[in-house]
Amino acid sequence: MTSKEIKIAYKEYDGLEELEQKDRELAQSAIDATAQAYAPYSKFNVGAAVLFQDGEIIKGANQENAAYPSGLCAERTALFYASASRPDKAMTAIAIAASQNGELLETPVTPCGACRQVMAQYQLKSKLPMQVLLVGAHKIWKFEKIDDLLPFIFDSI
Ligand code: THU
Repeated sequence: MTSKEIKIAYKEYDGLEELEQKDRELAQSAIDATAQAYAPYSKFNVGAAVLFQDGEIIKGANQENAAYPSGLCAERTALFYASASRPDKAMTAIAIAASQNGELLETPVTPCGACRQVMAQYQLKSKLPMQVLLVGAHKIWKFEKIDDLLPFIFDSI
């Protein structure tokens, strides 16, 4: 028997002003995207912004439905739109933010498991590490790759 351990590294910033320009722009796009959420049931507005290698940013927001499971998280809305509309471009980062009653959440929002798996797939497709910025009002967490949010990604097929 061998005991093994996985270490997860991430950086914490105390506000948008601490970020590098490109990260700040992406984080701001995720914040802006929260306004595009369609969340009449949860009233929990999530915004996501995907950065391509060439600098283009695509935004997405959660879309809810009266048949609850038919809705989709902001991250997958953005990622599927990004891949479907620019199938040949590599993605290099995603930023996520959430707001309630028009206020950005204090603590960064952490993506659900299904969205992490989808991020992992697009990281694989892009053949580049996908950085993740989780944006809160006064705290921002930055991960260098999806593996740090989802160890043991399913990629066996
Ligand atoms: N939601 C997201 O958009 N992203 C997440 O990472 C977690 C949850 C959405 C789904 C639903 O519309 C609302 O937030 C409440 O769960």
